[in-house]
Amino acid sequence: RKGGFAHFMLKEIFEQSDVFQQSFRLAFSHLETSALLRHAHGISVIACGTSYNASLLFRYFVEKECGTPVRVDLASEYRYLSTPEDEVVIAVSQSGETADTLSALKKAAASGCPTIAITNVQGSSITRAADRTIYTGAGPEISVAATKSYMAQVAAFVGLLAGMTCSETSFVECSVGQAIEESLLTDVSEAVSLCVPASTIFYVGRGIFYPVALEGALKMKEISYIHAEGYAAGEIKHGPFALLSEMTPAVAVCLPGDGYHSMLGNLREMKARGTPLIGIGYGDDIDLQDVTDVCIPIPKGDEYAQVAAVTVIMQRIAYYTALALGRDIDKPRNLAKSVTVE
Ligand code: F6R
Repeated sequence: RKGGFAHFMLKEIFEQSDVFQQSFRLAFSHLETSALLRHAHGISVIACGTSYNASLLFRYFVEKECGTPVRVDLASEYRYLSTPEDEVVIAVSQSGETADTLSALKKAAASGCPTIAITNVQGSSITRAADRTIYTGAGPEISVAATKSYMAQVAAFVGLLAGMTCSETSFVECSVGQAIEESLLTDVSEAVSLCVPASTIFYVGRGIFYPVALEGALKMKEISYIHAEGYAAGEIKHGPFALLSEMTPAVAVCLPGDGYHSMLGNLREMKARGTPLIGIGYGDDIDLQDVTDVCIPIPKGDEYAQVAAVTVIMQRIAYYTALALGRDIDKPRNLAKSVTVE
């Protein structure tokens, strides 16, 4: 059932190009839901773990493309926060059974908010608590670490956004698919060599790559058991600087666009404090190559393709690091696929 792959996680990583396409189309077909979001005064998204990291990306995309304010909350904290009834609330959960997400969704529904569930599991509990459901097309995910279900959620958000902005869609599917396929083959071995002996690994990015960095760090810590932290690159100097050393490599996303020069500045500051740097950027970026110890190229493309490519690279760095350390990759210690207690 692993289709020749050593682990389900690797198999699921390799399925992501198809999963993106499938999930994007499914979400894009929900034009009524996109219209509801387009006319909303505000959008509130609730989720846990990897699903929360995918939801943070939606915030950046929507605020840039539509200007609609998007609030993203950890489902476990939602009960302590206000629930404005003019917000459309989206609950995101791969399993559809996460207790915190379910109770946050019920709270939003009880306050009179229109609710939408995004889930991968047909008939799961959150589908019964929400007004409407968008299914992601990831198919069953066996590995405890979420990979293709995260990509499916990102695709669902991009599909909804395309509906909200009435955009042309064929280009998105094609560019993201190619970016994923290429990134499945990119050599990440030098990066893995820097990660294996690490005591802590920082993941840093700006803008859309901040949530991607959070997800990269989550994947690394759960399957390799190495402590990893995702940070907005500008925040590193506000505390984490004290931790930087030869034992704390950083995986840094640095791509042309908003914040590129600030990011290079952040990397130089980290380098000066001894941090081994793994850059993820464009292969012809000489400035990035100059400041990093290892530079992993991603194909050129739009923001969605960049996000997908960086995600795949980070998943593969985590996978091969865990493999080198002999971890139980598909079933990491102390973790369950579905968390049904608050
Ligand atoms: C990490 C992971 C968890 C889940 C979280 C929420 O790889 O799988 O962080 O994302 O437990 O689960 P769902 O999406 O099922 O609500």
